Amino acid sequence: MTGRPDVLRAGYCGIDFGTSNSTVAVMRGNEISLAPLEGDSSVIPSAVFFSFTEGPLFGRRAIQHYTEGEQGRLMRSLKSILGYGLFHEKTRLQKQYLALSDVLAMFLGHLKQKAEAAAGRECESVVLGRPVQFIEGDEVADRQAQDDLESAARTLGFKHVSFQFEPIAAALEYERSVRKEETVLIVDIGGGTADFSVVRVAPDRARDSDRSKDILANRGIRVGGTDFDRMISMRYAMPHFGSEIVYGEKKLELPRTIFVDLSTWSRINFLYARESMAMIRALRREVGPSPQIERLLRVLERHDGHRLVESVERAKIALTEHARDVIDLSGLGEALRIDVDRAGIAAAVEPGVARIGEAIVQTLADAGVKPKGIDTVFLTGGSSLMPAVQARVSKLLGRKDLAAGDMFGAVGKGLGIEAQRRYG
Ligand SMILES: Nc1ncnc2c1ncn2[C@@H]1O[C@H](COP(=O)(O)OP(=O)(O)OP(=O)(O)O)[C@@H](O)[C@H]1O
Ligand SMILES: [Mg+2]
Repeated sequence: MTGRPDVLRAGYCGIDFGTSNSTVAVMRGNEISLAPLEGDSSVIPSAVFFSFTEGPLFGRRAIQHYTEGEQGRLMRSLKSILGYGLFHEKTRLQKQYLALSDVLAMFLGHLKQKAEAAAGRECESVVLGRPVQFIEGDEVADRQAQDDLESAARTLGFKHVSFQFEPIAAALEYERSVRKEETVLIVDIGGGTADFSVVRVAPDRARDSDRSKDILANRGIRVGGTDFDRMISMRYAMPHFGSEIVYGEKKLELPRTIFVDLSTWSRINFLYARESMAMIRALRREVGPSPQIERLLRVLERHDGHRLVESVERAKIALTEHARDVIDLSGLGEALRIDVDRAGIAAAVEPGVARIGEAIVQTLADAGVKPKGIDTVFLTGGSSLMPAVQARVSKLLGRKDLAAGDMFGAVGKGLGIEAQRRYG
């Protein structure tokens, strides 16, 4: 022994920065495990709140401050904006001008700090998860999305930054539990994307550094729980805010983008901008008296958009357990409760579920594997809990038994396993 104080080798971590929720895996003791990110919870909502009085708040605390009516800006679904030009546009938050890229860096910085506290050392290296496609059908924008994420990580002081596809990470986590070689279909349906992989897993292959031969197919689409929320909101909630109004002799409709934006987590804040408010007020004058437009303006003036979509999401989640529920909008200033049932929700989200079904068929074709050749279907991601999604997966694969992993943690753990392999 040299007598010097021990210098700990810099550490590494895996970060699953999700559209709705994030997790981080680090080495603790001799094992990769998820770090506590908020209290005891290893899952933190990917949310940032800028109040007018305090610095940025993260996760459930961010949502709670907003829900309790504190003045400020709530930011959610930042991942959905990666790769788009407006990611770098500055907007006023508190007393400063910040771009969404700065907000993302703050959130990742918070995750890094939690990772280092759990690991007991600095994390210099990171494997970040990425969906198979951030942005569908546009390779340049998709590359930009990954570059945006990488530069945020580098700003925070990560020296080694690399990526792994989220469903492959989930396969690595699933592989820890297998006893024999299996061909597995990973179905990861999260808040923003649905990703699918066909992978050969085996207990003795887990340590191999090059697994490319075992990845038989890898495919992703931009459909997730936030899209389901939008589809449900458009069908059930937006008619109460004017989406079905026709006015004037020409039977005009109000611009659909107003209602799409108000139903889309990542776009709500844009509606509060001065120009968009002025446009909607001008429309009110044209349309004449309408309780729906009054309601629309009230929601926007009070910055209640996230509360609205949250009520929709809450009903969607409740319908995973129950046959009926209500979208309760009475927190928005008047008694408005909308009855919903499971069949109605399934009909509303059908366009998304149909695309998920098509992508699964294509993934199997890419892999050259028939449904019967799949030993295990492994589900992960919060939206894979939806009954309509599970029914479609079951039907396509011709089986009822779907293996469910840690719905919110499998990808994060797999990224930790990959980080250990690359940097350990
Ligand atoms: N019980 C449930 N039933 C239906 N949907 C659910 C349930 N629980 C969570 N969700 C939905 O799951 C989504 C979040 O899942 P998850 O945390 O896996 O996404 P993410 O990893 O953040 O997103 P992505 O991987 O697409 O970036 C949300 O849209 C949420 O509404
Ligand atoms: Mg995810």
